[in-house]
Amino acid sequence: MLYSLARALLFRLDAEAAHRLTVRALTFLPAGRPPAEDPMLASTVAGLRFPNPVGLAAGFDKEGEVAHKMHRLGFGFAEIGTLTPLPQPGNPRPRLFRLLEDKAVVNAMGFNSGGQAAAMVRLKRHARGSVIGINIGANKDSTNRVADYATGVRNMAPLADYLTVNISSPNTPGLRALQDRSVLDELLATVTEARGGERPPIFLKVAPDLEPADIDDIAELTAKHRTDAIIVSNTTIQRPSSLKSPFARQAGGLSGAPLHDLALQRLRDFRRATGGAIPLIGVGGISNAEQAYARIRAGASLIQLYSALVFDGPFLPKRINAGLKSLLLRDGFSHISEAVGSETA
Ligand code: FNR
Repeated sequence: MLYSLARALLFRLDAEAAHRLTVRALTFLPAGRPPAEDPMLASTVAGLRFPNPVGLAAGFDKEGEVAHKMHRLGFGFAEIGTLTPLPQPGNPRPRLFRLLEDKAVVNAMGFNSGGQAAAMVRLKRHARGSVIGINIGANKDSTNRVADYATGVRNMAPLADYLTVNISSPNTPGLRALQDRSVLDELLATVTEARGGERPPIFLKVAPDLEPADIDDIAELTAKHRTDAIIVSNTTIQRPSSLKSPFARQAGGLSGAPLHDLALQRLRDFRRATGGAIPLIGVGGISNAEQAYARIRAGASLIQLYSALVFDGPFLPKRINAGLKSLLLRDGFSHISEAVGSETA
């Protein structure tokens, strides 16, 4: 397979250098035609039309260089960011580690990016056609983090099909405290007001490291503020004892295969807490069609992935979409929407 050759070369590089090279290579890919809808897999979520349910998770294209081309790899949508209002360097390197033995990644990037203004200039030049989400965050040194999210909404809303309010990165100290009830209430009120009208939809991205009471609070507040979807989940600060890689104890967020069970459980928790009233997007450790299907059956209307691309190559989204169709047919579903949450039905 071609990717095994590319992978062997990329794995000889430091993980961040390999990632940079991959994104650079993708910039040479022509954007081509807008993505085609698959009749069984296309669906409308939060008022947006998704040609298929497999999305690129945030963090791969932090600056918005290639998201508009990712449909060429089979993705139905792609999420840019996290972008903070001001540029910032992120944490010192090395801050990205491949856990080969575990099919996992640990990252402690810390919202490194050229900031929203630079991304706005770049994004205005790109063809629109694919569904593009823009994930926003707060600067590390900000004295008013809630205000940073309002700035992000005002800056990025005109360029985004949806916005993701990311309060779940473990790599900005104190950021996840925004998930606490009183702060989250204020944050959701502020971002909803900053948006003005009804569009674009606002999604909230949560951590997998939440207690049951937090989940109930988040479900209640997202209903109150009419948040359009919840993305479950970001990376975990937990380290399962099964990890074998020498990098297992590196500080940061763990993603990939060891996150799978935890992220699936959290999705089930959110499905129960929200009663299916708000669309859910399942993320974390998905690397094949069976896992994507299980997430959909557990209540996800859409799924996202990132880490599995590193290990399984760029055509994984195409394989997942093909596999999903077979699984739907096997179980007698004629459309993906019938399978969403069917596990609990
Ligand atoms: C991420 N992720 C992430 N999420 C986010 O909301 N903003 C971000 O900037 C980043 N950055 C980032 C960098 C790297 C290197 C990785 C591996 C991940 C988290 C990502 O979007 C996703 O939620 C998790 O990685 C879980 O999915 P996978 O990777 O297990 O499929």
